[in-house]
Amino acid sequence: MLRYIIKGGNKLEGEVKISGSKNASLPIIAATILNSGKSTLYNVPNIHDTQMMFEILKKLGGKIEKKNNKIIIDTSKINKFEIPEDLMRQMRSSVILVGGLLGKHRKATFSYPGGCDIGARPIDLHLKSFEKLGINITKNYGNISCICDKIEGEKIDLDFPSVGATENIMLASVLAVGTTVINNAAREPEIVDLQKFLNKMGAKIKGAGSNKIEIQGVRNLKDVSYNIMPDRIEAGTFLCATAITSGNTKLVDLNSEHITPVITKLEEAGCKLKVDKKTIEIIGPKRLKAIDLKTMPYPGFPTDMQSIMATTLTVAKGTSVIVENIFENRFKYMQELNRMGAKISTEGKTAVIKGVRKLYGANVKATDLRGGASMVIAGLVAKEITTVENIEYILRGYENFENKLFKLNANIRKEEI
Ligand code: EPZ
Repeated sequence: MLRYIIKGGNKLEGEVKISGSKNASLPIIAATILNSGKSTLYNVPNIHDTQMMFEILKKLGGKIEKKNNKIIIDTSKINKFEIPEDLMRQMRSSVILVGGLLGKHRKATFSYPGGCDIGARPIDLHLKSFEKLGINITKNYGNISCICDKIEGEKIDLDFPSVGATENIMLASVLAVGTTVINNAAREPEIVDLQKFLNKMGAKIKGAGSNKIEIQGVRNLKDVSYNIMPDRIEAGTFLCATAITSGNTKLVDLNSEHITPVITKLEEAGCKLKVDKKTIEIIGPKRLKAIDLKTMPYPGFPTDMQSIMATTLTVAKGTSVIVENIFENRFKYMQELNRMGAKISTEGKTAVIKGVRKLYGANVKATDLRGGASMVIAGLVAKEITTVENIEYILRGYENFENKLFKLNANIRKEEI
């Protein structure tokens, strides 16, 4: 078991390099199955979730070679099509591999991923879409088998702009006969990155970033090399860590166009930001002002930044109201914050945060990936010592998190217990 020990009170200062995007890497790693050849990826973050994806690919017969700052994935010898249940349960987002396996090999077996710490996380939209593409699905005792002779392009209307379902439909349709059109598609930047990667591989996709994506089936794909986009949620996390500590930092190697909703909200809360395409300089005020926000599908305020922004507002002047519209159980971390002296009450999908002058160090636990990062942010300003347990959650999605914070003058260390 690992935990962080944080002594609050230091202002964050200095420069931090943003790593490659976890949520762009995972579907792109899955997409490497499609060309049954070699894909060379740059800027893949070295985090638990990408490591898990590589482990699964190796179990399916794939080969992974790490060389300096690149990863070479060879999927030409993939000869297994069942995602191991234990790995599936550890990382529900491995369901994205199903789209790759179906797209290339037209078969896949996996266990129902089940819920996680932020909600039920059903995959009904994925399965309904696969059926529309002509894929036969059988379910027994939590196991799901998908198989078909060929995939025929179809028009698919998504009930909700699900990121994962949009990505899975794209992967399953790249080598289909005919054209697939996704209406009400998710518009996240990670989907644009996936389209760029696939088109570089020889796919014919257009519309990513809008709510309508068209995938024209092709017959062959080629080897490809690709540079993964920066992680917009990691960038937002460091912006908030600077804001809450009244710090002054510069973020580099990000794409500021991906986080305009976060930039706008931090300016509203009293931060000063100098925004260029790949860098952002931020100065946090002596004390933040309360703001209201609601999470929405992109380009709205991202749900992954909800807990991080809410934590930042616990010490703001005034009362903030936050509405979580995407996941039904994404406030769990708030009970931990209240143990540190925050004054948060929740009713359904709404949280009311009464700003307090001080947070106090405590022993808290990470409840999920972003909730865990939020505990660290609270610890940066809490009086005295905060220990954050279950930080394995955090290591899933943040590369070198404590080292990056330490270099920004945070008093943080990791220890084994
Ligand atoms: C992706 O998850 C991200 N994960 C999440 O980031 C992110 O919070 C989410 O998109 C929303 O932006 C990855 O990209 C690996 P959804 P995903 O399908 O694809 C419901 C993080 O912290 N839904 O857009 O699972 C679902 O229950 C993670 O980095 C269905 O009802 O999100 C949820 O309420 C957390 N049926 C909503 O849609 C389905 O078939 C959004 O889910 C699929 C989803």
